[in-house]
Amino acid sequence: MTIGELQTILSDCGQQHVLRFYDDLSEASREKLLSQLSSVDWARLPELVEAYVKAEPRVELPASLQPAPSLPAQPENEERRELYAAAARHGRELLSQGKVAGFTVAGGQGTRLGYPGPKGTFPISPIRRKPLFQWFAESIARACEKYDSEIPWYIMTSPMNDSETREFFRKHAYFGLSEGQVFFLTQGTMPAIGLDGRLLLAAPDSLALSPDGHGGSLLAMRQSGALADMARRGIEYISYWQVDNPLVCVLDPLFLGLHSRLQAEMSCRGLVKTGPFEKLGNFCLIDDKMAIVEYSDMPEELAQATRPNGDLRFRVGSPAIHILDRPFVERLTAEGRLRLPFHRAVKKVPFVNANGDLVEPEEPNAVKLETFIFDALPLAANVLILEAARGEQFGPVKNPKGVDSVDSCRRLLVERAANWLEAAGVKVPRQADGSPDCTVELSPRTYLDPEDVRQQAAQLAPPKPGSREYYE
Ligand code: UD1
Repeated sequence: MTIGELQTILSDCGQQHVLRFYDDLSEASREKLLSQLSSVDWARLPELVEAYVKAEPRVELPASLQPAPSLPAQPENEERRELYAAAARHGRELLSQGKVAGFTVAGGQGTRLGYPGPKGTFPISPIRRKPLFQWFAESIARACEKYDSEIPWYIMTSPMNDSETREFFRKHAYFGLSEGQVFFLTQGTMPAIGLDGRLLLAAPDSLALSPDGHGGSLLAMRQSGALADMARRGIEYISYWQVDNPLVCVLDPLFLGLHSRLQAEMSCRGLVKTGPFEKLGNFCLIDDKMAIVEYSDMPEELAQATRPNGDLRFRVGSPAIHILDRPFVERLTAEGRLRLPFHRAVKKVPFVNANGDLVEPEEPNAVKLETFIFDALPLAANVLILEAARGEQFGPVKNPKGVDSVDSCRRLLVERAANWLEAAGVKVPRQADGSPDCTVELSPRTYLDPEDVRQQAAQLAPPKPGSREYYE
């Protein structure tokens, strides 16, 4: 787009001020700003300003809102036992046949953790302090060995952490994976919109941009060539997880097999919530379509509603673990665009004022817009929810202390390792309250699942009370 074309578009939508410093910029800075401005959907901007900035959209939940049905984590009758066993076999076949890819959304920074780098570089494991990325890479490497297949891993970064993330992998030789197995793609951005409806500049040559939410992963898959790369490799299923959850079973045969057998286009793991206000999206049916209502949008009385047996009515929440059919993503993004609804957050966004001074606002001054992957659920022809045993699949690291923190995540990793060891017949010392009286870490490069531990059990020395044992 030329500067002349841009000027016309900008004045049509009242945003000329973003070129305020243009004349004084160097050639390189002009190019940078023009390239940013060319990627904004100007045709849609006035509508977004009206809908999300001038108006304060309230999430209206229809009266028809119902809890969504889900399959239990453990089969509860003979028929289900057979279904689950056959599905797990089928899932293992899909993995062996090279039909499954891993996909991690890692566009976020460690800001909430008080950590300066990309979240995936955060050292998480209880003893070795392996970074989240290493934990997943080793899990995938073990899965490749187990299923005798080169399983590709797609990692979605954001422009804010892309080069640092790639450099981290290069520096660590891809943690044992081959370079060609790891595909980085960068999500899109959205400009922050000031509360007066005008876009903010972060610098004279840059808009204030932020990642467009993990819903951006769908379009990013197409635009980056990741979808084409998957098709070339024969990938049919995308196993999706968030970088903040090292407990996730990255390539889960049962989940994959059920998804495939029951012909779902998008599937979700579910968790029985610990209480009405746990910060998990809620699985719901809206007019018979599956949807997730985010915890922050769930009215208190609905969140607290109970069934006659005392269970929460909306009892199942989302750990953000999904399987997506590749053809489903192809279909959604076929026209090169995808209109998922936006979610707005009002934030403090530093900006450059008319004098060129950087202002750090003391009050929220701008709207950030994001799309969420789970808003693709109502677009799927068929959705499956499979509950998960909490300690087996979910221990996110979001906060420095307390709930969903570094400490709680490490504790859950230790507890799960202790349970797997014990199930394999390796005695684990316990405290009076039942928690392990030791710190144990199982390397995911060797021990991907309880079966791996069982097979090696004869060689594993039981941990001593109070000891720290790393099982390589
Ligand atoms: C998220 C889910 C919530 C779910 C919970 C489980 C949302 C809005 N909510 O909550 O339904 O129950 O996790 O832990 O996602 N990310 C990107 N790019 C972005 C934004 C986020 O890659 O533009 C990634 C982050 O790196 C992170 C993940 O998405 O891995 C989740 O984002 P976050 O904002 O931390 O969501 P939560 O509020 O924790």
